[in-house]
Amino acid sequence: MHPLQCVLQAQRCLRWGPLASVSWLLLRTCRAHSGVCSSACPSPERRQEDGVWKDFSSRLATGPPFQHFLRSASVPQEKPSTPDVEDPPPYLTVDDLLGRQRKVYLETYGCQMNVNDTEIAWSILQKSGYLRTSNLQEADVVLLVTCSIREKAEQTIWNRLHQLKSLKSKRLRSQVPLRIGILGCMAERLKEEILNREKMVDILAGPDAYRDLPRLLAVAESGQQAANVLLSLDETYADVVPVQMRPSATSAFVSIMRGCDNMCSYCIVPFTRGRERSRPVSSILEEVRKLSEQGLKEVTLLGQNVNSFRDSSEVQFNNAVSTNLSRGFSTNYKAKQGGLRFAYLLDQVSRIDPEMRIRFTSPHPKDFPDEVLQLIHERDNICKQIHLPAQSGSSRVLEAMRRGYSREAYVELIHHIRESIPGVSLSSDFIAGFCGETEEDHLQTVSLLQEVQYNMGFLFAYSMRQKTRAYHRLKDDIPEEVKLRRLEELITVFREEATKANKTFVGCTQLVLVEGLSKRSATDLYGRNDGNLKVIFPDVEMEDVTNSGLRVQAQPGDYVLVKVRGLPWWQSG
Ligand code: 5AD
Ligand code: SF4
Repeated sequence: MHPLQCVLQAQRCLRWGPLASVSWLLLRTCRAHSGVCSSACPSPERRQEDGVWKDFSSRLATGPPFQHFLRSASVPQEKPSTPDVEDPPPYLTVDDLLGRQRKVYLETYGCQMNVNDTEIAWSILQKSGYLRTSNLQEADVVLLVTCSIREKAEQTIWNRLHQLKSLKSKRLRSQVPLRIGILGCMAERLKEEILNREKMVDILAGPDAYRDLPRLLAVAESGQQAANVLLSLDETYADVVPVQMRPSATSAFVSIMRGCDNMCSYCIVPFTRGRERSRPVSSILEEVRKLSEQGLKEVTLLGQNVNSFRDSSEVQFNNAVSTNLSRGFSTNYKAKQGGLRFAYLLDQVSRIDPEMRIRFTSPHPKDFPDEVLQLIHERDNICKQIHLPAQSGSSRVLEAMRRGYSREAYVELIHHIRESIPGVSLSSDFIAGFCGETEEDHLQTVSLLQEVQYNMGFLFAYSMRQKTRAYHRLKDDIPEEVKLRRLEELITVFREEATKANKTFVGCTQLVLVEGLSKRSATDLYGRNDGNLKVIFPDVEMEDVTNSGLRVQAQPGDYVLVKVRGLPWWQSG
């Protein structure tokens, strides 16, 4: 991140430009299609119960004793809230699935999807009667939500596991044994290799298996290792309300889709997170509405491929026209038909609360039809900020990466976006040293950075991942030191260009959503402008424009008008 450092004329402003009039009747408020609904799918036992009254007395004779009900009745009094567990498998009882107030310590690595997955995993465990702790020393269960995107990300987890091993071995006999779980992409990629390599890992849960966490932990209680790394075609956790790990007064993530069908040749994601599937629009709107009622001022719609969103759960929309791709872009999969698309979702989400900022990440450049761009331009609360991962500036490398576009098509899209959304902030991802990348290819990436002048960027050295197409078909032939040298060069050029781009804000007034106290100075606040750039400004009294004349100090969640005075020293070039 490259914060703009700005001071002056801070003015509190709780409202900005009005939205076009909203018809609330347009909002579809039906509840989410729940992935798990025990009443709709009665167990064989329950079906029998419904119809066969006559053998009631014989079942009573073989049923649990009276003491069982007394025991169960006393349990909830010991718990902070009534745990809500699913039907247990035959080898476990409902009691086994209860957390018994065991304390869970969760640690998140990797992308924002993992932050949201952590909130989902915690929501499921909390319902089962687990407690959360932020103190590792007092944890009974440690769960790491992991990332596999690059080798380095996995190495971090192996190192962490070694530290946890010593914590586990120091556990007193009087305590319950410490249970350790690996969740997410690394569990999915390495499966039992983790259990074999690190015997002290008790459970593995892939990204689609978080509903199974109470069962996995119950099995682990008996001293056995347990794993669920099944990928699903339809799991979206639509009915699980994420519990924010770090409750913020300002912003939250809302997952709208999972998985990826793009199969870029370098990327492990389609193998660890599975096929692309979208969450029903109605459940997304419901979650955003609740966040708005809680007073949150910003939501970021999340997905591996957010703008490929396609909710096909409503039959009446399934005959709609096929996908509009950005001009000059293609897909690695067969064209998909119908469903409610991203433009519809974005429109509906942005109408919920005109004071709530809407962002989305991470999109693919192929899915930016004009209706999405127009909507971003027109709607005041959709941030004028687009992440457009290019990965390379060389058409030859882009083809080897199977990105579905050439440099020319990408640059044309950039121009089209800038014409459609004046003042838009752009960011991108780049990979240095992909298989077969020549010095000339690398220079093409340098020149793309210069041509576009992104406001923000995320740059990585290529890391070969097993299972990917590149692993099977291409050679990881760029020496590590060359990858790193090229990465350094890209970072330098990116910084120079971002400085030029961000200097255009100097002297301008920006609408900033306040997030909190600046980490660098106790007398400053920080927040973000519409383009997601960090802005630092003094924590002083200012005029509240909604309450004429009143002077107040800005709080997290307030909008403040800030005049930008300059860039921080590392960006002022
Ligand atoms: N090596 C390096 N970077 C990668 N990314 C994805 N896979 C790899 C890999 N194997 C980068 C891409 C992607 C971002 C999330 O991570 O730039 O957009
Ligand atoms: Fe990976 Fe490409 Fe899918 Fe992004 S779009 S998650 S880079 S396969």
